[in-house]
Amino acid sequence: MKPRVLVTKRIYPEAIEYLEEHCEVDYEKTDAGLTAEQLHERLRGKQGIVAQLMDKFSANVISQLDGLKVIANVAVGFDNIDVPAATRHGIIVTNTPDVLTDTTADFAFALLLAAARRVVEGHEFIHAGEWRKWAIDLLVGHDVHHKTLGIFGMGRIGQAMARRGRGFSMRILYSDAVRAAPKVEQELAAEYVSKEDLLRQSDFVSLHVPLSDATRKLIGEPELRRMKKTAVLVNTARGPVVDEAAVAQALSEGWIAAAGLDVFEKEPHVHPLLLQLNNVVLAPHIASASIDTRLEMCMLAARNAVAALEGRRPETLVNPEVFRELGERRGRTES
Ligand code: DGY
Repeated sequence: MKPRVLVTKRIYPEAIEYLEEHCEVDYEKTDAGLTAEQLHERLRGKQGIVAQLMDKFSANVISQLDGLKVIANVAVGFDNIDVPAATRHGIIVTNTPDVLTDTTADFAFALLLAAARRVVEGHEFIHAGEWRKWAIDLLVGHDVHHKTLGIFGMGRIGQAMARRGRGFSMRILYSDAVRAAPKVEQELAAEYVSKEDLLRQSDFVSLHVPLSDATRKLIGEPELRRMKKTAVLVNTARGPVVDEAAVAQALSEGWIAAAGLDVFEKEPHVHPLLLQLNNVVLAPHIASASIDTRLEMCMLAARNAVAALEGRRPETLVNPEVFRELGERRGRTES
């Protein structure tokens, strides 16, 4: 009998075709998202789930998932899943790293450039019919080249961001809980500094940390007040990594110059003050949204789900200890 899988929201048809070759698929082919009750109901009798960011798997939800073997998240981030709880229940969790690294860094850099050089303001200025003559200081912004780029989180996407900064002859500073390997620092000419030094010295601060208790509100009022008045903040990580109300206040009162934000504390809600400001470029959580990347994320999640259900090692495991333990148990049963 084929394993049974729930897909909680619309994904690319190629991934559904692949899943259907290997599993019996219960496909919620809308973008609506399932409520906790619907999720609970639809998960009955399923061994696998292909989930997205808004599907919340708290310890309580997980404790009610009988017979579930794998949660395959279509995202690199997995803060929607209580991974220790999943691990305790022997549920494999997978994510979609690597396939979105460059795409996400491209977009973070696009936000950085757009905010610094006032691209959206220029676009709106023309659309509003306000462009009547050229002026020497029309929409002047901040240079990017040869400035200092401070990166919080030197993982895959942080490194890809640093590489883009190097292409613009920027000085690279970074701060992270763990220092990067010497090889990485050398390749990127990146200097490991304290959080305070990064905030004080950077012209651009870009966030690339995962959301955890340690990174929640990493950037709040004290940090924003420590940044340069000319600084630009970029967030493509997770909304709760910044205190959104404090960022809105900082932008409106000129503690910092501008921001590019792709993620928000309570998506799709955006702090109302941000909607009134010209010095912020806003995007609806689309940093990984290129056609190729979103397709590859769906395919990777589908392959991960099928691999786990067939007892093979998924390509991108979040909790490998569960897979190891299942393997050991299988070994014991077979011998
Ligand atoms: C992720 O993958 O975690 C992004 O936020 C959505 O692409």
